[in-house]
Amino acid sequence: MLNTAIEAALEAGKFLKQHLGKVRDIRLKEGREKNLVTEIDKGSEEIIIGIIKRHFPQHDILAEESAKDTKITSDFRWIIDPLDGTTNFTHSFPVFCVSIGVEYKGSLLAGVIYDPNFDELFTAEKGKGAFLNAKRMTVSTINSLTKSLLVTGFPYNIAENPHNAIEHFANFLMKAQAVRRMGSAAIDLAYVAAGRYEGFWEVALNPWDMAAGALLVSEAGGTITDFRGGGFSIYKPEILATNSLVHAEMIGVLTNNRGK
Ligand code: IPD
Ligand code: CA
Ligand code: CA
Repeated sequence: MLNTAIEAALEAGKFLKQHLGKVRDIRLKEGREKNLVTEIDKGSEEIIIGIIKRHFPQHDILAEESAKDTKITSDFRWIIDPLDGTTNFTHSFPVFCVSIGVEYKGSLLAGVIYDPNFDELFTAEKGKGAFLNAKRMTVSTINSLTKSLLVTGFPYNIAENPHNAIEHFANFLMKAQAVRRMGSAAIDLAYVAAGRYEGFWEVALNPWDMAAGALLVSEAGGTITDFRGGGFSIYKPEILATNSLVHAEMIGVLTNNRGK
């Protein structure tokens, strides 16, 4: 399965790179003001599903652009974001990736994120560690927020300030060394796993944004919970993913009085 996920991610990533700057059809998803979809998202998804179906025709698929057709018939579920970072892509801003995770009976088994711009392939298998271009990777050893580089993203309905997202951002800006916002949740998670960021938090993500990345972070020695330190699920809206060492400090910021 990992090999199939890698094959699909590399093929789709090549397709994305070839089409950067050539988007013809940009639409709003479900009439929402900011959530975009293009013919490139759909083309990438077709490539990925085609490859998975060839190897594992019986497995279930939960893919962003065809999520409405998802059925539960198998213990295996492939969770696919064919283009994470669509807004960046439509501006020819080269921060985007392909994300593919595999679940068995509801727990993550394998995950692959491919960034075609840097040609970086992030892979993980449950219990077998995490890898960047086939080299073992681990989370960073920085243990205080003041020395930490953090990353977040904003949901498309940020104007409604869900979960006090704006206060959390302001609080971390004041406490961390620096905070980034790159526009691809999957890359954010892969970078926590690779030791480039110490922590990532976000609300209102979907399973396809987090499936592969969550396994990468835990296999690289990181910790993932909700904002209060409770159990994490890719089917729940909150994620706090860190190098483990700044986890408690980040929970402190996320649960303080000014930004619950
Ligand atoms: C988006 C990206 C972004 C995050 C959004 C996601 P998409 O995914 O991961 O970083 O802030 O919430 O929806 O729409 O580009 O696949
Ligand atoms: Ca996404
Ligand atoms: Ca997407």
